[in-house]
Amino acid sequence: MMSKITPEELFEKLKNIKIAANICLFTQEKCRKITPLINEINELKKKKNAIILAHSYVSPEIIYGVADAVGDSYELSKKAQETTADTIVFAAVRFMADTAKLLNPSKTVLIPGKNNGCSLADSITAADVQAAKLKYPNHTFVCYINTSAAVKAECDVCVTSSNVYKIVEEIPNDKIYFLPDKLMAQNVIEDFKRKGINKEIQYWDGTCYVHEDYDAEMIDFLRVQYPEVEVLSHPECNSQVLNQSDYVGSTSQMINHVKASPKSTFFLLTECGLTNRLQAEVPGKTFVGTCTMCKYMKSNTLEDILRVLKEPDASDIISIDESTQKKALNTILEMFRYSAR
Ligand code: 13P
Ligand code: SF4
Repeated sequence: MMSKITPEELFEKLKNIKIAANICLFTQEKCRKITPLINEINELKKKKNAIILAHSYVSPEIIYGVADAVGDSYELSKKAQETTADTIVFAAVRFMADTAKLLNPSKTVLIPGKNNGCSLADSITAADVQAAKLKYPNHTFVCYINTSAAVKAECDVCVTSSNVYKIVEEIPNDKIYFLPDKLMAQNVIEDFKRKGINKEIQYWDGTCYVHEDYDAEMIDFLRVQYPEVEVLSHPECNSQVLNQSDYVGSTSQMINHVKASPKSTFFLLTECGLTNRLQAEVPGKTFVGTCTMCKYMKSNTLEDILRVLKEPDASDIISIDESTQKKALNTILEMFRYSAR
């Protein structure tokens, strides 16, 4: 059970965050202002038997003030599936909240973020997938978890950044249609080339607007400034970035890698919420680079979390129609089956 937090305790958790936009920098004064709101949310959560799941990219006061679980999209979907709480408040983006509802349909799933899209999820519709299936009738359709429930319902298996290489490799068909992230698809193609795996991979033309902006020259520049730096990148970045990186993984895999690494200086090519988490949790290590924010993830606020817990609008409540529910759930469960192998 979460006890009341004091402004001093909150500041202690947040004071090491440095590579961040102003909204993610904390003073003692700012902590004093937001602590009552944090305590009110935690009280209400208890009363309503609710949990708050938060992606690592959301603002630090949510992660360290009110979240019951923080993680990458795979870990959070597992938490949503397993919870016995009546209500799940999903501080992230809509496709993650949709996934929670698909996995645990009897729960009330609330999404506090007002701008809860995702440039990948919004790049493709169910009708687009139907058209691609007509063109590629013999391909296995693999969707990244960053897709709507309606798109998942049209696909065969879902993947996340933590299992994409393994699952695409294990699918028995050598003809794959991957959607919607073209950079992730190209990274899988490159990886398979290196491993001598022969599959024909077609793909959709979507990108993550945050990760597509990183380029390999940024890495070259930082390696000159910090020769000892360890570079980590997310599989939504382009192949040149991945080739120049020391480690590639999902957001949680990157966190675990940094925590276990003997190195002391790191450059993370991903949304800066991840660097913020590491600065807060591993204060002895140094992080270099700049901050790039996902406007969708950062649209989650404490005020909106309190509002949806008290009185959600219809648009804050996730609802999925029955036929989509059944088919999309199967696509996600297929991912769990592959992951368990
Ligand atoms: P992760 O599953 O690695 O957290 O990725 C989700 C995402 O949206 C990255 O941009
Ligand atoms: Fe979507 Fe990119 Fe934001 Fe992740 S960082 S939620 S892929 S827009």
